[in-house]
Parts: sequence; C-alpha cells; structure tokens
Amino acid sequence: MSGFVEKPEPIQVPGLVHLHTGKVRELYQNEAGDLVMVASDRISAFDWVLPTEIPDKGRILTQLSLWWFDQLADLVPNHVLGTELPAGAPADWAGRALVCKSLQMVPVECVARGYLTGSGLVEYKETRTVCGLALPEGLVDGSELPAPIFTPATKAEVGEHDENVSYEEVARQVGADTAAQLRQATLAVYSRGRDIARDRGIILADTKFEFGLENNDTLVIADEVLTPDSSRFWPADQWQPGRAQPSYDKQFVRDWLTSPESGWDRASEQPPPPLPERVVEATRAKYVEAYERLTGTTWS
Ligand SMILES: Nc1ncnc2c1ncn2[C@@H]1O[C@H](COP(=O)(O)OP(=O)(O)OP(=O)(O)O)[C@@H](O)[C@H]1O
Ligand SMILES: [Mg+2]
Repeated sequence: MSGFVEKPEPIQVPGLVHLHTGKVRELYQNEAGDLVMVASDRISAFDWVLPTEIPDKGRILTQLSLWWFDQLADLVPNHVLGTELPAGAPADWAGRALVCKSLQMVPVECVARGYLTGSGLVEYKETRTVCGLALPEGLVDGSELPAPIFTPATKAEVGEHDENVSYEEVARQVGADTAAQLRQATLAVYSRGRDIARDRGIILADTKFEFGLENNDTLVIADEVLTPDSSRFWPADQWQPGRAQPSYDKQFVRDWLTSPESGWDRASEQPPPPLPERVVEATRAKYVEAYERLTGTTWS
C-alpha cells in the first residue's frame, strides 16, 4: 500500500475546471483552455504523500522553477505562459500558481545523471550498466560519471515506483525522432544546470525532466525543473564518493521516517506518521537554502 495518507480535497474556483490531483500539484484548466498548475506544500517520500506539509515549499519550488526556466530559455522552450493569479483564485495561490501551455505530455521521465547513486547505483552493482548503458569499472556511490547519461524511466501511478527503461524502449514507445530529441534536450539542460549549480557550490547529481509536445511537433519542457523535488543536489564541499552524500532535499524526512523514533515500518502496509515540528523546520530550511544558493537571492 502507498499513495496519499490523506487525499486532499481540491479547491474549487469559478472559471477553472479541476483536472487532476498529483502528488504535489493540483491541475486546473482555465476558460482559455490553458493549464493552471498549483504547487502545494505537500511532500512525498517512499512513494507516500505524507500527512504533514512543509510551509512555503510550493512557493519555493515554483519560484525556483521559474528562475531556471529563464536560465534555460535559449536551450528549449518551456510551458510557462504567466504568473498572474486567475480571477477568483485564493490569495494564498500567489507565488505557487502558474498558467502554462496545456501540452500533450510525453509519457517518459527524462532523467539525466552525472553522478552514480540511487537506482543507477543498484543497477550498476548488478550489471555494471545503468539503463543498459555500459559504465567503467570501479565506480562507487557518488562517483562522477565520465560524461552525463540519459537514463529514462516510465512514469508510474501514485504509489508505484518509476521503472528505468532502455533508450531503445523509449524509441519504441514514442518514436525514434522524439526519443532522440528527448535525449538531446535532457542532456543539454542537465549540463547547463550542472554548470550553473557548480558555480554556486552545488553538485547536480541527477535530475528528472518532463516534456510535452505542442501542436504535435514542438518539444517543450514542462512540469517543474531543477528543484530539490526533481533533482539530487549535493553540497560540493562535502562530496566524498564511497558513501551516501548529504543532500538538499527530503533527507531529514527519509532519515526520520526510517529511524526507530518514527515507529514506522517501511515494509508494512501502514501509512507513515505525521512529521515532528523539528523535521518540518529542518526540511523547510533545506529548501530555502537550495533556493538562495542557486539563485543568489534571499528567500522572502
Ligand atoms: N504543461 C503541461 N501540460 C500538461 N500536463 C502537465 C504540464 N506540466 C506538468 N504536467 C503534469 O502535471 C502533473 C504535475 O503534478 P505532480 O508533480 O504533483 O504530479 P506527480 O505526482 O509527479 O505525477 P502524477 O500527476 O502522475 O501524480 C504531472 O502529472 C505532470 O506530468
Ligand atoms: Mg511531479
């Protein structure tokens, strides 16, 4: 079992049709047919959307994505149309609602990895490959790869794991042309992000993008980009291959949930418990720190 510990009731706004409740975002359609994407303060871990929210997380991730879209604009078009609140929307949507192009989403999680960890490390240990790509011997948890690699995954339903797939499988599913474009765009955006983050003392270990098609042909980058929810960010000054790296994300949450203090057994059918205040605060501080270091501005 997994999914939502408590499934949220979406807010109804006149003039907007609610389309979908994602793990973190609520999707609506406005009268012009555009998408209104509202990031909540929800947080997920171990395939569960937790019963506790992280204050400001929705605004931080939205503002960070907007900043990145600007940094990437010359590489790939993005889905943002505007940041103006739809008429009648609750005031607390400010800063976390985006009006976006409603795209035909490509059903592939486009992952780029510049460092070895996570599911990549698990596969590497078994077969010395990641998504079927051969890698040199002797790599350990946190090693930098000789060059960034495209390691796509199929998008899972809420509560299911995404599954790594080969490039050939992606090409079978979406066509050779789109697959080639996805790989090219994913690696180009990753490389730009990695270089910018590196200048600010952050290692972009890996990240996930989602793309959509506009008018059936133009590839557009959608969803969120280069946030702590979609990426592994490591403080560069603490990077030490051969162990798990400290990171700017849900680490406090994962550590607490798997500690005896939480009383939660990950393997059980039981939903995870609420987070204690200090875990919430420490997690919020990590998101703020990632935002401030990357953008070079103060969070307010
Ligand atoms: N421009 C766009 N057009 C259409 N859909 C989009 C666009 N940008 C993002 N999406 C979709 O909006 C949803 C964002 O919500 P969220 O990130 O909370 O979902 P998720 O938990 O990652 O995935 P799911 O929606 O499957 O639960 C994703 O399903 C994403 O694919
Ligand atoms: Mg998502």
